[in-house]
Amino acid sequence: MATENGKLRVGVIGAGSISGLHLEAYKRCPDAEIVAICDLNGERAQAAADKYGAARAYTDYRELLADPGIDAVSVCTWNNTHAEISIAALEAGKHVLCEKPMTRTVEDAERVVEAVRRSGKVLQVGFVRRYAGSVDVLKRFIDAGELGEIYYAKASCLRRLGNPGGWFSDKERSGGGPLIDLGVHIIDICWYLMGRPKVVSVSGNTYNRLGNRAHIQNLSFYKAADYDASRNDVEDAANAVIRFENGASLMVDVSFTLHAAKDELYIKLYGDKGGAEVEPALLVMSEKHDAIINATPQIDHASFDATEAFGREIAHFVNSGLGRCETLSPVEDGLEVTRMLSAVYESAASGKEIRFD
Ligand SMILES: NC(=O)c1ccc[n+]([C@@H]2O[C@H](COP(=O)([O-])OP(=O)(O)OC[C@H]3O[C@@H](n4cnc5c(N)ncnc54)[C@H](O)[C@@H]3O)[C@@H](O)[C@H]2O)c1
Repeated sequence: MATENGKLRVGVIGAGSISGLHLEAYKRCPDAEIVAICDLNGERAQAAADKYGAARAYTDYRELLADPGIDAVSVCTWNNTHAEISIAALEAGKHVLCEKPMTRTVEDAERVVEAVRRSGKVLQVGFVRRYAGSVDVLKRFIDAGELGEIYYAKASCLRRLGNPGGWFSDKERSGGGPLIDLGVHIIDICWYLMGRPKVVSVSGNTYNRLGNRAHIQNLSFYKAADYDASRNDVEDAANAVIRFENGASLMVDVSFTLHAAKDELYIKLYGDKGGAEVEPALLVMSEKHDAIINATPQIDHASFDATEAFGREIAHFVNSGLGRCETLSPVEDGLEVTRMLSAVYESAASGKEIRFD
């Protein structure tokens, strides 16, 4: 599967905020070469091409995909284009690293799964938390049975002020608010560390109570490349309980805005032999000689570090594209997480628990 020069030749589609972390990581990766960049905004594409030494800049992703000198693409565009661009890329014979959420709907996710199967190419879903060094360490503890059976997980990602505006708050382009944007990460990382148990039911609530609070002054927050606060039809908070076939359960809550004292991020797992916290920092709980032990693995980044995690995610994608390993975040997992997210929205809209077959 090695390419002509032994490197994976990469194109990046979408040159907004997150693309910088992809491009920096490709630049650091000795087995990758950045060949082309595409953005609807031609100046943005050209600026990134100049900065990262890409030979070509495009405004139409189809032109980029027609380039036989590209082996793989990162899809870093609005959520509503992920399925269309990923499928076209796979059909053009490219490997795909698709940013989260993989798609807005289950139907789209199923179409992407089909396209991966037809093409035989790699599609890695951008579940970047799976690639964090702290998660790699914790996975080794879990695989060695040190937590026993994980029967409960709890995760919370609350922003008191942080609706990124622009396409993020336009439901048509994003598919939803903090649930699909932030919930996707914390649901996925818990599900992955729990051993990807089969979902039996989902119950959720969404709230559109506070709007985007664009009037708040003197407090800065993450914004889309084309920030615009005038349109906002996504939820501002959501919560959910997900039940699994093995009896385990997962509780999550997320917000773009909430009357909370401060932002909060935690990810906690509880097993019958031990427990663990992934955030705010890696910690492993157990018992020894009739005493409770809270153990702190000594590692470079005890909390999520974006540079480290994107570096590891992209190195893994490059290795998968070069045929050296299987991706750690395959398309089937993208589909299952999309099912869970869609079920939370469905449950919130209907006021009922959604059962999976
Ligand atoms: N993994 C993470 O932690 C993480 C963090 C932020 C964003 N993301 C994801 O990355 C994606 C992009 O988010 P962002 O924050 O960079 O948004 P952004 O608005 O800053 O950038 C998106 C860019 O995509 C371009 N674009 C949109 N449709 C396009 C098309 N059809 N062809 C070419 N270019 C197109 C836009 O012009 C814009 O420059 C989203 O799916 C988002 O969910 C992931």
